[in-house]
Amino acid sequence: MSLWSKKNRIVITCGKNITSFLNEEVLSLGLPILSEGVAHVETEGTMFDAMRLNLLIRTGHRVLFLLETFNAKNPDGLYEKISRIQWEDYIPEDGYICVTSTVETPTIQDSRFANLKCKDAIVDRIKRKCGRRPDSGPKRDQSVIHLYWKDEICLIYLDTSGEPLSKRGYRRIPLKAPMQETLAAAVILATGWKGDGNFVNPMCGSGTIAIEAALIALERAPGLLRGNYGFMHLKGFDQSSWKALRTKAKAASKKNLNAEIIATDISQQAVDAAKQNAATAGVERMIKFGVCDFSETPVPEEGGMVILNPEYGERMGKIEELKETYKRIGDFFKKRCQGYIGYIFTGNFDLAKRVGLRTKRRIPFFNGNIECRLLEYDLYEGSRKRELPIK
Ligand SMILES: C[S@@+](CC[C@H](N)C(=O)[O-])C[C@H]1O[C@@H](n2cnc3c(N)ncnc32)[C@H](O)[C@@H]1O
Repeated sequence: MSLWSKKNRIVITCGKNITSFLNEEVLSLGLPILSEGVAHVETEGTMFDAMRLNLLIRTGHRVLFLLETFNAKNPDGLYEKISRIQWEDYIPEDGYICVTSTVETPTIQDSRFANLKCKDAIVDRIKRKCGRRPDSGPKRDQSVIHLYWKDEICLIYLDTSGEPLSKRGYRRIPLKAPMQETLAAAVILATGWKGDGNFVNPMCGSGTIAIEAALIALERAPGLLRGNYGFMHLKGFDQSSWKALRTKAKAASKKNLNAEIIATDISQQAVDAAKQNAATAGVERMIKFGVCDFSETPVPEEGGMVILNPEYGERMGKIEELKETYKRIGDFFKKRCQGYIGYIFTGNFDLAKRVGLRTKRRIPFFNGNIECRLLEYDLYEGSRKRELPIK
């Protein structure tokens, strides 16, 4: 059976603690959940499903299509078993391959050695069968093979994403401490906001949260912005079914929003970058940008959500200054955001206490290795008081 028609296990990797959001995304595409871990979800489908996943999911990093499972005790055993796979059916002999791996086996100290063995087995086989061998190296912009080797069990995957899906292609100007696109999407999904009510994002930095919000509200496939995926470099890739998938996804996307998305930052440079990134993402006209202190951000009366990702002293910003900033965020919430649900994404829980408001939810996330929280504040009280009928 050809690679493109057979069904197999598909592992989708993601950031730590994002699994529940990825799970929902996979289920919403009609695919089953076979298992899940701290940073991955396992489903089942065809390469066509892998293409859909690459195009449509917002919170996953890499879509790995399982090719073979076998036992190997040592590097020579690995080479031998990998040599038996019919690579000439999958990888073009004039192509380029990159091998990545996750290795936890006693006979290998350095995973790069496992990568090398795996790469050698693939290119040697293709050379034997086709008379020439593909080039190889660290670039992930063509065929990518992923080796998972734990104890004696080996799983060989085709990495159908190539470059990780967090690289959507719109963030040409990253600035300092940008939030990863997939994390920003998960944070917005955690709030439950889908385009109803206003979305106010002071301290927008390079605009990732506001841009992901626009993509979510428009129901626009995040993968439409990218022109290159790993699956495109595999033999038998059918350009016309990929085109059809893209056309369907484009047609399903809304053209306009009901809500307002407002993004501001104190730095002109940040706002310029955010605008340019939004333009690349095709959502510039959906977002109102402004340069101001967060406390002066225009907050529409009708309510909605307000979300801030202030510095938290790990990578930038000084703690003493930040204490005052977090206190001022609390004042801003109380005075200016009545009728809103407020959110702060931070990795510094001491600073978060300076906000001085009771949290309704504390949702755990990781930004890289830094443990973070999305703190939710119900700011309805003031507005309810205001709305009491006068007797
Ligand atoms: C951690 S970064 C936000 C990163 C953003 N989520 C992204 O993906 O690029 C914090 C941002 O807050 C901005 N900032 C710091 N103090 C501010 C203030 N008082 N008012 C408004 N923005 C401020 C900084 O210029 C910076 O862009």
